Amino acid sequence: MNHFYNARLRGREGLYTLRWADGCISAIEPQSTTLRPEVAGSDGLDAAGRLVIPPLVEPHIHLDAALTAGEPRWNLSGTLFEGIERWAERKALVTSEDTKSRAHRTIRMLAAHGIQHVRTHVDVTEPGLATLKAMLEVRDEARALVDLQIVAFPQEGIESFANGRALMEQAVEMGADVVGGIPHFENTRDQGVSSLHFLMDLAERHERLVDVHCDETDDPQSRFLEVLAELTRVKGMGAHVTASHTTAMGSYDNAYCFKLFRLLKQAGLSFISCPTESIHLQGRFDSYPKRRGLTRVPELDRAGLNVCFAQDSIVDPWYPLGNGNLLRILDAGLHICHMLGYEDLQRALDFVTDHGARALALGERYGLEVGRPANLVLLSAASDDEVLRTQGHALVSIRHGRPIMRRTESEVSWAPETS
Ligand code: FE2
Repeated sequence: MNHFYNARLRGREGLYTLRWADGCISAIEPQSTTLRPEVAGSDGLDAAGRLVIPPLVEPHIHLDAALTAGEPRWNLSGTLFEGIERWAERKALVTSEDTKSRAHRTIRMLAAHGIQHVRTHVDVTEPGLATLKAMLEVRDEARALVDLQIVAFPQEGIESFANGRALMEQAVEMGADVVGGIPHFENTRDQGVSSLHFLMDLAERHERLVDVHCDETDDPQSRFLEVLAELTRVKGMGAHVTASHTTAMGSYDNAYCFKLFRLLKQAGLSFISCPTESIHLQGRFDSYPKRRGLTRVPELDRAGLNVCFAQDSIVDPWYPLGNGNLLRILDAGLHICHMLGYEDLQRALDFVTDHGARALALGERYGLEVGRPANLVLLSAASDDEVLRTQGHALVSIRHGRPIMRRTESEVSWAPETS
């Protein structure tokens, strides 16, 4: 196979033939009519008027913890903090083989849904960093399916965990692509702030990206985002810094947010919201009214800041469900964030494609342009809103010009007497 024909492309009118050669997109040709198979040639695939897009991007997941829910115990309170406790118990039982096998199974679940770019956080609050070493191997072994970015993620803190700083330094030296953090989990406000100074300096020194679990709490006093944004602004690192979660922003008052947004725009950092995870973990200390526990996704978007959606967990101590389908997360996120307006639906896929690619700083490695990698996904619907309305799927995934996944559409058949 070397081309799609009768393809719809987002943001463009009409039908297209999209060709590739030597692993890269070689032509994007508008069609004047619908092509029949005998005209299009046997080395093409008929997109039948459906969307061809660049791959879905999963910008925030924890592959090292995936598929461990209930082992050895379930998170009964449903809180983030019990999740961290349950994970600490499971972590004590982890082996490299266990980590790698679960990560590979989860990557296949992601790839089955048209995802080819993944940023995974890997817990580095572990003496010896065996999990990180295993995940660095997975990064190489999984190249046929996904490009994997690895975040050195200090799950139990940098300042509050023994040798936390040294472990972060070591993780970066071993090859982590991204520097992480968790300031709201540090023991004190001061430690949270100093952890941010430390990790931003570390990233700057080693020219790494940054992705901080930031203010993942309903506590309106959790205000580490302003510190991260200010450091980002001063260092001019906006294109390389992401704030994940920032759920406390859903509880900030509007007067503070008004001031905060001015700084966020100056800093130009990206945001990742994990809607299914946050609606599940947050609001746990509320009676009624119960907060949704998400950051201000539509407001960030309308302010011109880059926001995307992510899964965060698949069957782990923080979230017991998940199947790799990022379109399900998009559906949930748009509902929870009051983003089902006409204009939102017309561009909904931005939040799981282009915006994720920008957060991951993929640059020219991503997108439908001649010369870029022939990483392409055929969806089961013709537009963003139809993908959502029909709970559409990725049907075909092409990676560097080669088909890596095909999904058969389900069909409904009717008994004769119902016609
Ligand atoms: Fe996370």
